[in-house]
Parts: sequence; C-alpha cells; structure tokens
Amino acid sequence: MSEFQTHPVPANFNDAHINAEKYQAMYKRSIEDPEGFFGEMASEFLSWEQPWDSVVNYDFVKGEASWFAGGKLNVSYNCIDRHLPERADQTALIWEGDDPADSKHITYGELKEQVCKLANALKARGVSKGDRVCIYMPMIPEAAYAMLACTRIGAVHSIVFGGFSPEALKDRILDSDCQTVITADEGVRGGRSVPLKVNADKALASCPNVHTCLVVERTGNDINWVEGRDQWYHELMAGADADCAPEPMDSEDPLFILYTSGSTGKPKGVLHTTGGYLLQAAMTFKYVFDYREGEVYWCTADVGWVTGHTYIVYGPLANGAISLMFEGVPTYPDAGRCWEVVDKHQVNTFYTAPTAIRALMAVGDEPVTRSSRSSLRLLGTVGEPINPEAWEWYHRVVGDERCPIIDTWWQTETGAHMITPLPGAVDLKPGSATFPFFGVDLALLNEDGSEVEGAGSGYLVVKSSWPSQIRSVYGDHQRMIDTYFSNYAGYYFTGDGATRDEDGYYWITGRVDDVLNVSGHRMGTAEVESALVLHDKIAEAAVVGFPHDIKGQGIYAYVTPMAGVEPDDELRAELIQLCVKEIGPIAKPDIIQWAPGLPKTRSGKIMRRILRKIAENDLESLGDTSTLADPAVVNELLSNRVC
Ligand code: WT7
Repeated sequence: MSEFQTHPVPANFNDAHINAEKYQAMYKRSIEDPEGFFGEMASEFLSWEQPWDSVVNYDFVKGEASWFAGGKLNVSYNCIDRHLPERADQTALIWEGDDPADSKHITYGELKEQVCKLANALKARGVSKGDRVCIYMPMIPEAAYAMLACTRIGAVHSIVFGGFSPEALKDRILDSDCQTVITADEGVRGGRSVPLKVNADKALASCPNVHTCLVVERTGNDINWVEGRDQWYHELMAGADADCAPEPMDSEDPLFILYTSGSTGKPKGVLHTTGGYLLQAAMTFKYVFDYREGEVYWCTADVGWVTGHTYIVYGPLANGAISLMFEGVPTYPDAGRCWEVVDKHQVNTFYTAPTAIRALMAVGDEPVTRSSRSSLRLLGTVGEPINPEAWEWYHRVVGDERCPIIDTWWQTETGAHMITPLPGAVDLKPGSATFPFFGVDLALLNEDGSEVEGAGSGYLVVKSSWPSQIRSVYGDHQRMIDTYFSNYAGYYFTGDGATRDEDGYYWITGRVDDVLNVSGHRMGTAEVESALVLHDKIAEAAVVGFPHDIKGQGIYAYVTPMAGVEPDDELRAELIQLCVKEIGPIAKPDIIQWAPGLPKTRSGKIMRRILRKIAENDLESLGDTSTLADPAVVNELLSNRVC
C-alpha cells in the first residue's frame, strides 16, 4: 500500500494497557459476546446509580439502538465527584491562554465547585432536565464547566463552534429550540478578539424563545446588553450554592446535540445519549492513548467539534486525567507555540489534526527542534487522512522517533474512536488508521451492496451497534434513517471509502458523498452553494473539493452569474463575504470560477464528477461527457480553469 516502512510497537509500550494478544482476544470477545464484554466494561469504567436491565438492543433497519437500558448514571458525577476521594487536589484541567503568559490549573475539587454553582445558576434561570442549552464559547474553562453543568441537571447541550456566523448560530438555536445560551463577551485567538456577544446578539434577534443569555467576561470590552435576557456569568455564580446533587439520568437520556454537515440540506443535529457515549469515550481515551495516571494530555481541538467533546472533556475527565485546554492557535505568537506549551506543561500525549501538522511542517523544523519535547510519549491525529509525508515528519521531527503516531478515524456520528491503533498492540503503517476498536464490526461494500472479502476497497460500513453510536437526528428521526441506514439495509453507512490491505489494515480514502473536509472541518457542498446563490446576481453554483497542500481539501466553486451580469473581482469578494456571513470564515471558497454554464445531464442533474476532475486538474480522466445536455460546456470550463 505504501512505500513507507512499518513501525513496530516501541519498546516503551511493551507494558501498555493493551498488547497484541490482549487486543485480539478482547476484540474477538467484543464482537462475539458484546453483552458480556461491554457489561464488564461498563462496570469497570463507570459508576452507576442503578444497574441496567439489558446491555444492548438495536435494529439498524428502524435506526434504533439502546445501550444499558434501565441503568441510571450521571455524567458529571462520573467525570468529577467519584474522583474526589483521591483527586480533589489533583489538576483536572490545565488552561493555556492565547497569551503565553496566561495559564492556570483547575483541580477536580475546584471543578466540582464551579460546575455545581453553574448548575444551580442555570436552575435558577428555569433550566431543567431535558431543556436544550446552546453553548457558544471560546476555549476557556467556563466552556467545560457549562458542558458539565448541563449534564449535572440533565439539560442537553448543543455547542456551536465560536467560528460560526450569527446566521449559522441562529439556525442551530432554532432547530433544537434552545432557550438558554451561554457565551462570552469576546473570544481571543491568535492575538485577535472574536466578537462572540455581537454575533450572539445578531442571532438572538431572531430567537424569541431565548429567555437567558449568560455572558462570561473574557476581555471586558464594551458589549451591548439586553436587560432581563442577558446575565453576567460571574454575577449569577457569586450567589450560587456550591452543592448541586447530580440528576440521575437514564442511560438512554439525551446528553448532547452537535450539528454536523451532510451531503444535502442544513446541518443535522446529531443526538448522543448518556451511558453508551460515556463508556466509549472513557474506554477509547484510556486504551487508545494508553493513558497512565498523572500524565498530561493535550488535545488541540475546539470544544465546538466532537473531538473537543469526547477528547478534551468527557473521555479524559471520566478517567480522572489531566486535560490541557488551549485557547489559542498553533502559530501564535509563532510556529513554535505548541512545543513551547508541551515543555511548559510537560505534556505526555499530544493529539491534533493533520492540517495543523502540515501547516507547521511547511514552516520548517527549527520552531520544533528549539524545544525539548522530552515529555512526549504519544502523538495522535484526527479528522482527515494523514499523508505519509506528514506522518513521517510528525514521527521524526516532533516525536524524535520515540512516539507512536495514533491515527484515529471516527465521526461526529460515531461519538468516539472507531478505527485506531492501540499503541502497544499494533505495528503502525504511516497513513493507515489500522484496526477497529473493541465492538466495532466493519465491512467494505461493493456498489451492489455485497461485502468485499479480504483485501480490497469499498464503502466503509459498520455491521452492528457500538455504544457511542448516533441515536437520532434531533427532531427528524427519519432523516437519520435515510442518511445512515438506508443506503445499504442492515448497515450503518459512514460516507467514507476505504481500502483493506493484505494484512487487514484499513486505509480511509475520504468521503464518497458531497461532504468536504477543509482543514478537518466538515462542510456540505450544498451549504456553500446555498450561500452563493443567495446573491441576487447569481443564477447557479456548484461546489466541489480539490486537493490542497495544507487544508487537505480546498473549496472550488463554479458560479454562473445571472444573464447580463459581467462578473468582476467585486462580485467575487461579495460572494466570499456571503459565505462568511451564512456559515463562517471556514467556508470561504479558495477558488471561484465563473461558469457561463454547468455540465448537466439531459434531466438537469449537475455532473459533479466532471467538475471535480477539472478542479483536481485531472483532465485526462474526465470520462464520458456524451450524456451531457450540452457537451460544449466542458470545453468552456476547461479553457477558463483557475489554477
Ligand atoms: C469525517 C468525520 C472524528 C472527529 C473529527 C471529525 C474524516 C476523520 C479521519 C482519519 C481519515 C478521517 C472522515 C469522516 N476523518 N478522522 N483519521 N482518517 N479521515 O469529525 O467532522 O464528523 O468528520 O472526517 O471523512 O467521515 P467529523
């Protein structure tokens, strides 16, 4: 599969939690006897207020899954209270601010106090079990407190990434009818402020049901204030009781909603529930990162993405770990920041996205090599395929050839890691996410739905339920069935393609649907197209991805102006602004090509395959264009291709 060499398990992982033999045995049992296996795991990893009646029941045709039905537990109790006897004074969170001079440690004891106070403050504002709370926050400890405070009282959080626009925020608040919003006056990233409250105000102008907007004071700059609705976080906290009994939740009670993009329509509110999600978050955190007591672990994601949910907050805290939360960006004040932070806090595990690795690699080795990094034991990646060159650089330059690279494949919908090496169990092949985690039963399907046997390529599907599986699309269960369980009956359809090599290793080849992955951020081509056609000078738009050295994929937009409109740079700038306004800066097209016509079939369907080839500059394999309504359109596009 690759000209890059295989990396055997490093000697310092010989005593890892899971070795090759254990992996084989545990994996086999997890598939053959999920009831027995996960029943034991659920007792080992979590504290339950009431035991479950049955471990798992599912029906992929109806899109139903339930884990630990009848069991009761509370997530904040599992992430905080039960650790207190040994860890009240141990650090739970290390917060590293955008400014290198800003950092602090929050102990498990302090975490308990902050979370309970906030839970009581939310209750005092009328928030109760089952209510949805929108969190639109920068990367500050209060974001973690907000998540955990929701779980303490059984409220369902819906985090919206702080980089999303007011428009995108509004859509998400309305879709799940959040009546409470928690935000900050401003965020701070890379030395610049992010106008969170300004954005929230714009969004809330169209959200009449929101009765409370809780505002954390981060910068103290002037903001607009709506009396009654807006409440200072610190004022409510000052009067709040520091004790709040955790609400016993059913294992299948909703835990959070997180919006993610698909190939069509508006983003979907992926719904996760309590027991199964927390179990897989906890298990994967311990086994995949081979976490040892007292180690410092740093995941650079934002809590606005699922990675931040599972691997900054829930997975680490469920294990009583020390989790570092970083407010800034890897390139501020300069490209050495990550390694400076690693040395400063003696980080043992570092988990980031390939796009960040490629961006840092492009700057050269010096910002890395001027740091020690001797504390590092394990390096991880997530979010997109990692090219073997970046893998090797990460391994050689960042990890000094000492640290295994753990390439974790999973999705917002899967809740936690699904395909990943366990560092003590698996020889690594650069670019491969290797093998399935416990309980994950994979298959590759041919176009006709038959399973690929042995080595080969196909659509990546999952054959049976796993604990942290998506339970529903909020407010539209049918949409979940249609999206994930209808393509091939009886299988969960991931939307990714993959290859299995002769050694059984999985290699993710990328999305097979109209979903883009730009710098690890997931986006539907349809979302960007809808934004572009809002412009009254635009008749039509088609968006595809193209290979981008740093971002993985870039956004290539073919745009057809209305008849009589002479497109110019001003229009181009307006279109880019429109994408920023409707979605956020991550949705800026890299390339806009004016297209007097788009290649369509005679029935009017846009042939994206051709547009993708032109964008990829793969002009040899345009394929059959004879079925096009007007084949001349292709020549027109080719002669105006933007490089
Ligand atoms: C899509 C899911 C997983 C949390 C962050 C992204 C791609 C994710 C990998 C990987 C190759 C990957 C897939 C997947 N993806 N991890 N290790 N190798 N591709 O979550 O936003 O829900 O995106 O990201 O295409 O379907 P997400």
